Amino acid sequence: MFFYANALPERSFVPRGCRAKEGAPMTDYTYDFVNVRMGDGIAWAALNRPEKRNAMSPALHYEMDDALARLEVDDNVKVVVVTGEGGNFSAGQDLKKFFRELENNPAERKKAAAAANRWRWERLYGYDKPTIAMVHGYCVGGAFMQLLACDFAIAAEDAAFSLSEVNWGILPGALVSKAVADAVLPRHALYYACLGEPFDGKEAARIGMINYAVPAEKLEAATVELAQKLMKKSPAVLRATKQAIRHVRTMDVPQAYDYLAEKGKAIKAADKEDSYNTGLRQFLDEKSYKPTFEPFRLATSDKPSKAGAKK
Ligand code: ACO
Repeated sequence: MFFYANALPERSFVPRGCRAKEGAPMTDYTYDFVNVRMGDGIAWAALNRPEKRNAMSPALHYEMDDALARLEVDDNVKVVVVTGEGGNFSAGQDLKKFFRELENNPAERKKAAAAANRWRWERLYGYDKPTIAMVHGYCVGGAFMQLLACDFAIAAEDAAFSLSEVNWGILPGALVSKAVADAVLPRHALYYACLGEPFDGKEAARIGMINYAVPAEKLEAATVELAQKLMKKSPAVLRATKQAIRHVRTMDVPQAYDYLAEKGKAIKAADKEDSYNTGLRQFLDEKSYKPTFEPFRLATSDKPSKAGAKK
């Protein structure tokens, strides 16, 4: 049940699809503390402070906020994977640079906290494109924000999750307590937040913190497989569906009826696929697919444009 955190291998993160023809990181997404790589419609946005286990400093927050904002409107990007370099997802907020060094600098602290919360929650929670958290190694404290804001999460079975805040003197702040309490049953939330005990990927899946855990060596392939499934769906319908599932949680029944009816109409207004009519035609007239098992054939985006390295 519990993961005993030591001697994690320093796995170098170089996702498939980024190695061969599309090779180098895109130079127009070059940052000091974030690595962005593209391949076959997938953008891999990786925290990049491996020597600090990807602890999140203010500079990292500013860069990730910028990267995610740009990836959201980049036509080459169909799915965004949030992860970390060097074998770890993230060791949470940088206790030195985010906490101690900003104690006496309230202006910078406010700015850094705004950026941190914006990308870890507001941006990812309402992101126009599907997002996947790919977790390996440590996922600690403040990293639960991006973990739970992403639409999907896959972890290595030997990943090490910990709500460590209680172990060093704060509560799980920003939105961590709320995100965790909303994601899992109260007993699990209370147990792990109050005990601060680490748990592994299998336990994270069991309690609903992530979708599933796979052996570490299969993590990238499992992430690509999920991304490819998502890319076969109509982008407009997928976007509306994920937003609907998120937003109805806080609505009462009359509000949900109303919202979902209007959201359904809104899809049609900006849907390049004309999904409703295309899906019906392919099933009823062409008899070319069974909606129970698979999506209709996309006309405009079944082959995501290749995002090669560019200046
Ligand atoms: N903040 C600042 N520095 C960190 C953090 C962090 N959250 N996590 C790791 N580091 C630094 C270490 O200080 C160390 O720096 P140094 O090389 O300059 O000494 C380096 O990263 C490597 O860390 P080690 O502890 O040596 O690595 P190890 O693999 O043995 O342990 C672990 C990794 C388990 C993640 C450990 O560093 C740890 O417990 N870190 C604290 C995690 C934490 O509690 N995060 C805050 C959560 S609360 C919040 O996010 C709001």
